[in-house]
Amino acid sequence: MKPAGYSRTQIVLHWIVFVLVVQQYVFNDYIAEAWAEITEGAEMQFSPVIAAHVFGGILIGLLVIWRLLLRARRGVPASPEGDSPAQRAIAHGTHHTLYLLLILMPVSGVAAWFMGIEPAATVHFYLKLPLLALVLLHVIGALYHQYALKDDLIGRMKTPRD
Ligand code: HEM
Ligand code: HEM
Repeated sequence: MKPAGYSRTQIVLHWIVFVLVVQQYVFNDYIAEAWAEITEGAEMQFSPVIAAHVFGGILIGLLVIWRLLLRARRGVPASPEGDSPAQRAIAHGTHHTLYLLLILMPVSGVAAWFMGIEPAATVHFYLKLPLLALVLLHVIGALYHQYALKDDLIGRMKTPRD
């Protein structure tokens, strides 16, 4: 049986990961610059802003693994009643791909930064675009439910049902 809603832990993790992902997109100039210099032979640099990207990104990976374990053990609520099969497929596809990208981004980042694997940096560089696009699609979907369909979907990610 699917649970009636998301648990407190699932909700808290969703919003922490949201804040951390925003941070990854805002603070990446320094690490991108440092990476460009490293590939030209410069010494590895470190600064608080670089550390925020590296450790914030690793934390995202760990929290997402936690979310996936909770999802497997506890489950997640069924799609909203009024959703057509197509809407359900799009929502599920978006959620699964978001999880996949939130694992691939930290893995490729670690492979580039700590192991010096240059193709991993290229993967990291290009995956930022589909991740951003899917987050936008996800937010548009949530706002469409909330304000056009008025089914209080966002309430499912605010009010826990443990
Ligand atoms: C979900 C987690 C992460 C997200 C969303 C993310 C996002 C980004 C973004 C948007 C850029 C800028 C790319 C550009 O336009 O130049 C970037 C660059 C970079 N990030 Fe991350 N990052 C994540 C995790 C990590 C981690 C954990 C590490 C290292 C341990 C890392 C290392 C790097 C490096 C080395 C660059 C510069 C190389 C490049 O541009 O590809 N990232 N990241
Ligand atoms: C970095 C940004 C975000 C990411 C990566 C993200 C990721 C996810 C994922 C993977 C799920 C599926 C949870 C599951 O069933 O396992 C989810 C659910 C949800 N997200 Fe987000 N989210 C983000 C931002 C937002 C924002 C800004 C909003 C609100 C405008 C939002 C509203 C929701 C809602 C309402 C659900 C529950 C959907 C349902 O009950 O079917 N998310 N999110």
